[in-house]
Amino acid sequence: MPGIILAANWKMNMNLSEGSSFLSKFAGQELPPDVEAVICPPFTLLYPLSQIKEKTPFKLGAQNMHWEEKGAFTGEISPLMLKDLGVEYVILGHSERRALFQEDDGMIARKLASALAHNLRPIFCVGETLEQRENEDTFNVLGAQLRRGLKGVAKEQVSAIVLAYEPVWAIGTGRAARAEDALEAARFIRERFRALYGGAVAAALPILYGGSVKGGNVREFIGNKEINGVLVGGASLDPDQWRTIIEAAR
Ligand code: PGA
Repeated sequence: MPGIILAANWKMNMNLSEGSSFLSKFAGQELPPDVEAVICPPFTLLYPLSQIKEKTPFKLGAQNMHWEEKGAFTGEISPLMLKDLGVEYVILGHSERRALFQEDDGMIARKLASALAHNLRPIFCVGETLEQRENEDTFNVLGAQLRRGLKGVAKEQVSAIVLAYEPVWAIGTGRAARAEDALEAARFIRERFRALYGGAVAAALPILYGGSVKGGNVREFIGNKEINGVLVGGASLDPDQWRTIIEAAR
């Protein structure tokens, strides 16, 4: 059984003093047993936060990366650069990357394979749009995103993956999925992993829910063993909300 993973996706928010002051509020604190918490700040804050993170209970994650180690890729960040700063996680395939920056399943597959090859834990995001849900296409969409994204991922590597089910219509809208819908999607994802990699891998896969999670609703999602954590955007920018989310995992 995986423990609980709480991941904060700060997106394009927080400057140096805001990010440092957020982290300093958690200095010397401990997480509940079997809980891991990961802060994914903008790239500009990875280095300064890596210098103070030992004082806090958090790990560091990036919000994206390129699949190549180095080269002529203006504006990109490589897995080696992340490793150099002690980054342990990387969010890949987030719906904002897919929708606003035209990342397709092929690119996400290359990023996933590269993250795994460099011992970074990918937080691999999948999720359907509202239109796809209304057309009862949710499980086709999730199935295709998983199949294409995981292409090239070997069974020996797959245990490092964290899956995040993030319905696009729930992200940043204040309209979280119903717990039973999140549960149904998590069961579907686990079943796909069972078919692809076997029962032991599927049972150990951490599946997070993301989309309008807050201190007030987080228990609905992590209160069962199918959902093993949350990926939090807006509410993770507020230290009080983030603290409530951590306490809810106790
Ligand atoms: P939200 O974002 O919590 O603001 O809905 C979640 C995400 O995009 O990961």
